[in-house]
Amino acid sequence: MGVGVSSWQLARAVARTGELGVVSGTASAVTLARRLALGDPDGCLEDALDDFPVPAMAQRVRDRYLGTARDAAGAARFRGLPRPSLDPSSALTELTVVGNFVEVRLAKAGHDGPVGINYLEKIQLPTLASLYGAMLAGVDYVLMGAGVPARIPALLDRLAGHEPVAMPVTVADAERGEQTTISFDPGEVTGEVALPPLHRPRFLAIVSSATMATFLARNAAGGPDGFVVETPVAGGHNAPPRGRLRLDAAGEPVYGPRDELDLEAIAALGLPYWLAGGYATPEALTAAREAGATGIQVGTAFAFCEESGLAPELKAATVQAVRERNATVHTDPKASPTGYPFKVLRAAGTLSEPETYEQRPRLCDVGYLREPYRRPDGEVGYRCAAEPVEDYVRKGGDPADTIGARCLCNALVANIGLGQVRRDGYVEPPLVTAGDDVAGLGRFVPPGTNRYTATDVLDHLLGVGGTQLPGT
Ligand SMILES: Cc1cc2nc3c(=O)[nH]c(=O)nc-3n(C[C@H](O)[C@H](O)[C@H](O)COP(=O)(O)O)c2cc1C
Repeated sequence: MGVGVSSWQLARAVARTGELGVVSGTASAVTLARRLALGDPDGCLEDALDDFPVPAMAQRVRDRYLGTARDAAGAARFRGLPRPSLDPSSALTELTVVGNFVEVRLAKAGHDGPVGINYLEKIQLPTLASLYGAMLAGVDYVLMGAGVPARIPALLDRLAGHEPVAMPVTVADAERGEQTTISFDPGEVTGEVALPPLHRPRFLAIVSSATMATFLARNAAGGPDGFVVETPVAGGHNAPPRGRLRLDAAGEPVYGPRDELDLEAIAALGLPYWLAGGYATPEALTAAREAGATGIQVGTAFAFCEESGLAPELKAATVQAVRERNATVHTDPKASPTGYPFKVLRAAGTLSEPETYEQRPRLCDVGYLREPYRRPDGEVGYRCAAEPVEDYVRKGGDPADTIGARCLCNALVANIGLGQVRRDGYVEPPLVTAGDDVAGLGRFVPPGTNRYTATDVLDHLLGVGGTQLPGT
């Protein structure tokens, strides 16, 4: 769960029990730089940097970012970073490789359980450097959705041998048939240091239909090793309904019979699959297994537990809202600049509130959701529906896309306590996502407290005890 919600602490807590623990790989360059900027008080990041196989690279990252946050009226103000592009600076590429390495390295420390890393296909520009960084740390699984991740298996094969890789990048407004690629050469980045071949992780494609699963499984260039099959009640981004988008009275996408999952067709592909989206109960786990799934993927239940990266005040406010039967989620078709429906948790002080959204000065300085587009002069430019409207429109973007678009980059890093403070003192507000399951979080919370751990969730799901929050 991004950005940083599936922290290394959470993934480690899950993986050490033998279950698959997954870290978020999204924007890990930003989270590493900002955490280092805060001085790495417990020294974990520095420990992981010490283990990086190319010490000079790790040292450059340390030198560039450690202790660089400035104090702005008691809150940290972070230095700007270069935004992802087709031609990133070597400093950004290094930071991306090392950021992904650090998350996986820390998640794997002290146990033999399996660790995965999650990316969004829609965010293409940092993908190659990110995969390589995670693989340098020995990641066991790569999970990717929000798009058609058809190229990943072949890329993993090559990166395991430290071979140069390239992949096509979607460029809006490009001529038909025109192809733009982004490339990554491990040898160039590491300075030709002789490294042993890397473990080739398994690849799980996150899909929402049997059609997509079948298409990926039949890919002659290499298919996935399995699937995470996600329903529209899952937290985060959701697949849009098939066909023309229809909204109900609350403005949420309407899913119909065409969106029903054909699990038999997915099972017939003969690959392992995990079900996700509202499956975090022992009964649903048993039913999933009986129906042939290898297991389930759980998000919302873990997002608010002690080990998750979410800021403690956001967790506490959510559990309190659950107690008061007031935790609600809105599937917003416009909030995410990706164009995918995005589940938004209604919470005070976050961009879920119209007035908080309206008051935020639009700007784009993190830039992970910028889409490359072909400018009239033939060069590639970058635009995001959440940037200032006049900029987006000047770049050929449709003004309709900007209505309601939230700057997820700034908000999601604010969610994990790494939000930017602007020069004028404005503090970037969070925007929390959760699945419909949030209303039932109480089943994991021990009596007399507002907190629960990843172990509470696992114990409940795997049948060791089980707890109930009074009143829920
Ligand atoms: C806070 C949060 C952030 C998420 N971020 C991502 C993400 O970055 N990438 C992704 O593939 N899925 C993401 N998800 C979806 C989860 O990986 C998982 O599939 C989903 O939450 C399962 O359904 P559940 O929420 O009912 O447990 C996120 C979910 C939550 C709750």
